Amino acid sequence: MSGKVAVVTGAASGIGRALATRLAAEGMDLMLADVDPGGLAETAAQTGARRVLTQTTDVSDEAAVRHLADRAFGELGAVHVLCNNAGVFQGGHMWTRTTEDFSWLLGVNLWGVLHGIQAFVPRMIEQDTEGHIVNTVSVAGLFAAPYMAGYAVSKFAAFAASQTLAQDLAMAGSKLRVTALCPGAVRTQINRSERVRPADLTIGRTRDDYDAQGIIDDVMVKGIDPADVAAQVVAAIHEERFLVLTHPEYAKGLRVQVDALLDGGLPPLPSYE
Ligand SMILES: NC(=O)c1ccc[n+]([C@@H]2O[C@H](COP(=O)([O-])OP(=O)(O)OC[C@H]3O[C@@H](n4cnc5c(N)ncnc54)[C@H](O)[C@@H]3O)[C@@H](O)[C@H]2O)c1
Repeated sequence: MSGKVAVVTGAASGIGRALATRLAAEGMDLMLADVDPGGLAETAAQTGARRVLTQTTDVSDEAAVRHLADRAFGELGAVHVLCNNAGVFQGGHMWTRTTEDFSWLLGVNLWGVLHGIQAFVPRMIEQDTEGHIVNTVSVAGLFAAPYMAGYAVSKFAAFAASQTLAQDLAMAGSKLRVTALCPGAVRTQINRSERVRPADLTIGRTRDDYDAQGIIDDVMVKGIDPADVAAQVVAAIHEERFLVLTHPEYAKGLRVQVDALLDGGLPPLPSYE
């Protein structure tokens, strides 16, 4: 990885900041993106990377992500690791969620990943070097749970995009590999996603939305350190591993889910034990 280039979206906080820090420690040059310029500058200052560029970018905006790619390839010469990591959470029951809710969640969590793939992958293929795309999905992209509404929908779709991308690249004989990062609880600011919600997609909050907020606030306290997630991602890049389940206990849940589906039943919630 040393001397190669990594791009990280959602780099101003949490898992993105930890990824940037870890990839810099591996000797990589960085292009960091986020909607939060203050947090982005803090991350850039902390990484100790040899070369680090930042770009305020809304990943739900196609033109903004294309501009990010132009700068990364233009100013850093190449891109070897692309981390489509930016994401937001909002919960509540499926039937109370509005078009604004779904637009926000799908815009960042799904379109953010798709825009990253569109803007970077053709040029990474053309570059003809080894490389890796890491899409931050979630266990919520493998297990649909109550109160997850647009988050689960966006993350299932982001998982599908990752798997199809990996299959397409393999079929094309590409040197690029893909990892679908599916963390369980990680101690970050994801429970405070409303802080970066665009004004035009903001609506009044509902009771079930606050209930979901309470649940995720509790979950955050029990989360693992984002640095552990970043270490697992670097290992996955070296091992060319497609799926990273940061919490091994979910592996059992996946088997239970498949058995339940094959029996035609509604899968139980995964056991977190
Ligand atoms: N923390 C967890 O428990 C957990 C679990 C599973 C998956 N994830 C996923 O991890 C990823 C990173 O989240 P985190 O937990 O570090 O949360 P976080 O809130 O600490 O960091 C997310 C970052 O994304 C940025 N962001 C939000 N909207 C953006 C946009 N439109 N364009 C660009 N950047 C934007 C935020 O400003 C923030 O810096 C997300 O995709 C999230 O869904 C988190």
